[in-house]
Amino acid sequence: MMRIIVLGSGAGGGFPQWNCNCPNCRGVREGTSRALPRTQSSLAVGDGGAGWLLVNASPDLRAQIASCPSLQPARAVRDTAIAAVLLVDAQIDHATGLMTLREHRARLQVHCTPSVHSDLTTGYPLLRVLESYCGVDWHPIDAVAERPIAIPEIPGIELLPLPIPGEAPPYSPRRHNPAPDDTIGATFVDRASGRRCFYAPGLAAFTDRIRDEARRADCVLLDGTLWKDDELKTRGASEKTGREMGHLAQAGSGGMVEELAALPGRKILIHINNTNPILDPDSPERKRLDELGIEVAHDGMELRFE
Ligand code: MLT
Ligand code: MN
Ligand code: ZN
Repeated sequence: MMRIIVLGSGAGGGFPQWNCNCPNCRGVREGTSRALPRTQSSLAVGDGGAGWLLVNASPDLRAQIASCPSLQPARAVRDTAIAAVLLVDAQIDHATGLMTLREHRARLQVHCTPSVHSDLTTGYPLLRVLESYCGVDWHPIDAVAERPIAIPEIPGIELLPLPIPGEAPPYSPRRHNPAPDDTIGATFVDRASGRRCFYAPGLAAFTDRIRDEARRADCVLLDGTLWKDDELKTRGASEKTGREMGHLAQAGSGGMVEELAALPGRKILIHINNTNPILDPDSPERKRLDELGIEVAHDGMELRFE
């Protein structure tokens, strides 16, 4: 049996974001919106055994562990159920939580691509810093060859990496000229039942290969960052567009909603930015998703595959 727990369903900044007074952030702070607060982008994936794979280490990791009892089994004076970490990119919202894990009693088992490893040992050298704490064993992911990843501590699950169109992080030397493995998606497969969940919180565009992977999945957890490509601009929040950040917006022709509507399985949006109107269950945009059977991830959401 495969279990996936959404530890954080928000995009970078979380919801509400500390410095944001957009209608969503103000509404949730003042209690006038029914939207749920959300922490930053992370999953826990397990196979029913004691060990869990942490998928992305968000800046909110400490609070996420505290709210997820499975991750703290308390078998020894110092203990964790986090057996390994998978990073889908080197973005700040997906990597910063590695610092929270520095007290780990063994070397951290970190799975990421060579491009992500390069950024996390140079521009944002978290993996180098950790050498002075718990230390890191790097397990390179060959996403371009789509080589399956086995995590020995979580034997019931297989991971299939896939290169994804995106952008490198803002601090990366490859920011707008990304390598194919700067951003990956991953299909988690329950070995016992063969059921599949395809996860890609950063996805700039669909290709035939990605459509095919999404179609084969029993469930997809895909980029829910922005409703409209220019949403940050029109809300006065930032000059950045979704396209510039490597995120395909939901609205419009060729947008994420149109792609999701054509898929046969369960469809869930994740990595949702605080400006996105779908966070408000009373918004017309959310009602449109409801009509199409598209779900919006929330913190603590659990998916089971058996
Ligand atoms: C992204 O998903 O584009 C990044 O997390 C943005 C950021 O680092 O603020
Ligand atoms: Mn992000
Ligand atoms: Zn906001």
